[in-house]
Amino acid sequence: MEELVALCKRRGFIFQSNEIYGGLQGLYDYGPLGVELKNNLKQSWWREMVFDRDDVEGLDASILTKPNVLKFSGHEDTFTDPLVDCRDCKSRWRADQLKSDKCPSCGSNNLTDPRPFNLMFKTSVGPVEDKDSFAYLRPETAQHIFTNFKNVVDSTSKQLPFGIAQIGKAFRNEITPRNFVFRVREFEQMELEFFVAPGTDEQWHESWVESRLSWWDEQGVSRKNLELYHVPEDELAHYSKATVDIMYKFPHGLEELEGIANRTDFDLGSHSKNQADLDIQSNVLENNESNARLATQDQETKKWTVPYVIEPSAGVDRGVLAVLNEAYKVEELDDGKTRTVLNLKPHLSPIKAAVIPLKKNHEGLVDTASNIKKDLQKLRLGRVLLENSGNIGKSYRRHDEIGTPLCITVDFETLEDKSVTVRDRNTMQQTRIEISKLSKYLEDMILKSVSYTHLRAHETPEHRGCR
Ligand code: GAP
Repeated sequence: MEELVALCKRRGFIFQSNEIYGGLQGLYDYGPLGVELKNNLKQSWWREMVFDRDDVEGLDASILTKPNVLKFSGHEDTFTDPLVDCRDCKSRWRADQLKSDKCPSCGSNNLTDPRPFNLMFKTSVGPVEDKDSFAYLRPETAQHIFTNFKNVVDSTSKQLPFGIAQIGKAFRNEITPRNFVFRVREFEQMELEFFVAPGTDEQWHESWVESRLSWWDEQGVSRKNLELYHVPEDELAHYSKATVDIMYKFPHGLEELEGIANRTDFDLGSHSKNQADLDIQSNVLENNESNARLATQDQETKKWTVPYVIEPSAGVDRGVLAVLNEAYKVEELDDGKTRTVLNLKPHLSPIKAAVIPLKKNHEGLVDTASNIKKDLQKLRLGRVLLENSGNIGKSYRRHDEIGTPLCITVDFETLEDKSVTVRDRNTMQQTRIEISKLSKYLEDMILKSVSYTHLRAHETPEHRGCR
């Protein structure tokens, strides 16, 4: 982990947040390369979840959340971790993460009994701060998917099964943030709420677990480093009938990368019922008929159903850490030296190609390199860099370390024969390629990086039947 953290800082992937003022625990900032990697991972998820399917719509909802949403979702009462204090050194710990009955900081066993600590951050909305002005920073992106359920159904006429996908920030006041970006207080989630007819939920749950495993594999997180954890009943979240966690062998141990929960009709049911109750109280409704407001109506039978929901919920930051950890390699070279290489899948690489003139500031070489950069950039496949350093060896080493799949060298021969040397990051092999063929070469490489075999691969005939 230390080597990875050092690389992230040195090369501009991830920095400690608020660093020049001493840092703020549990917060990190993504630097020039980190933001590209993170965006590429999110884009890959969005492409798979939204663009590649016809049964999922996207959403980008607010972060500030009315207390009622999180009251009726059950978070106000249950979104807690067990907190213990050390009476001697005043440090605070999560009881379920203590390895013994001693304080990990000072060794004292003078610890308090565990008490529930609610992880939600509160803030005040508007200029007057009073008991009615407070709001929460959302602890999961999911709740506004549920509160927008009717808006999405009404505006898209979706029929079951269908999903709503969202990527965005979530906030949790973790008692002990740790392990770099693994457990932080501000993070991003990629969440899909996939609504299905009750009775088909268990089958969909299984199918989503398989789909998610194959997506992680496609991001370079190898199946052999992933394990499934069927969460036992006494550990399930308050909303879940069954949860399967995808566990990854992080540098600090086997931990959750993504959770796939069967949330049943808990959330829609709860918000429906409480909406109806509120409407009855304010005389909008006379009885409880509208219990099923957050429901869908079958076009043939006209029956209203509160759907069940399967929720694959992945952490972006944990994803970035897993992808970096998988890609990070220190290789022995033939000459006895070593090289550090980030073997990232090309579609995730922050920089897709570096174009390097052999001689710094040489007009003909730099002009040609600049035109190649512009042409490749037009493909809109990601960032292409013009690197006018004049030190090819140093550029190769830097681009190996940041995971650039291709380095394109423009030399004096280029000016004669309109071809360039393309160096492959993984094999270090150099190939002479005509400039006119570079676009296709880069395009093929990025497209090959994503196999698209996941498309409906795990859908059973029964599932297609219930579409
Ligand atoms: N909506 C369901 C939900 O939020 P969760 O298991 O609490 O479920 C889902 O969170 C994912 O969010 C986790 O699998 C993890 O990847 C990520 N996550 C949760 N807490 C986190 C934290 N403090 N820091 C970084 N990522 C976190």
